[in-house]
Amino acid sequence: MPDERVPRPRRYLTCPPRYFDVRYAINPWMREDAEVDTDLARSQWETLIRVYRDHGHQVETVEPVAGLPDMVFAANSALVLEGRVFGSRFHAPQRRPEQLAYETWFKAAGYDVHPPESVCEGEGDLVPAGRFILAGTGFRTTRTAHQEVQEFFGVPTISLLLVDPYFYHLDTALFTLDDENIAYYPEAFSPGSREVLERLYPDGLLATREDAMAFGLNSVSDGRHVFVAPQATGLIDRLTERGYVPVPVDLSELHKAGGGIKCCTQEIR
Ligand code: ARG
Repeated sequence: MPDERVPRPRRYLTCPPRYFDVRYAINPWMREDAEVDTDLARSQWETLIRVYRDHGHQVETVEPVAGLPDMVFAANSALVLEGRVFGSRFHAPQRRPEQLAYETWFKAAGYDVHPPESVCEGEGDLVPAGRFILAGTGFRTTRTAHQEVQEFFGVPTISLLLVDPYFYHLDTALFTLDDENIAYYPEAFSPGSREVLERLYPDGLLATREDAMAFGLNSVSDGRHVFVAPQATGLIDRLTERGYVPVPVDLSELHKAGGGIKCCTQEIR
């Protein structure tokens, strides 16, 4: 373990939850009759943004669109590597109009957006991890999209099969700690995919179901600070043991839509 883990400043794209709500159910966390405290959701999200800025990260925002309650989950909008943008094609019809809203932001910011031919939900299922892109499939993003991603970026893209509907996006079951290592919940993956992760990351931090159900794996790390759900207490202890600095941020209202910290955060690399 290094004496001191070094953070790297990041640039994040986010979307204020002005129109956030739970109005349809497209994952097991969502209930159409859910009572959502939209003011609380807003103040929790604002805290996340303040905490990012306090830690030296640059945060940009895209204008939210009325009628798109899930648009707060900016991570699903694209994968951006070295200034190249691979856009999204949403699985659920309810979310498809978000594609255009995000594309408009990227274009105004000076980026070309490459549109996927197959269903692909951005960083929700595509996690850059050192020399690889880890790519989830099973519920949303397709294997065909993984091939498109590999072809577009020229980065080895490792397909991982998700098997538990509560962990329908890769970023609900796994996150990168830094360029060398990851944390994940093994049971969210098929046996073969679990073995792939063991081979690639023999020192990976293994999380419990409890921590995963608390959205602990939907965390964001800058290499030193890990912005993590406070409910993921076991994971927080493990991170501390390994020399990371957990920074708890509570997004409990957003959990009702099946999203947490990482889902609200699109990294622009
Ligand atoms: N309600 C949203 C959906 O089901 C939540 C998206 C969460 N985003 C993520 N990156 N996991 O699509």
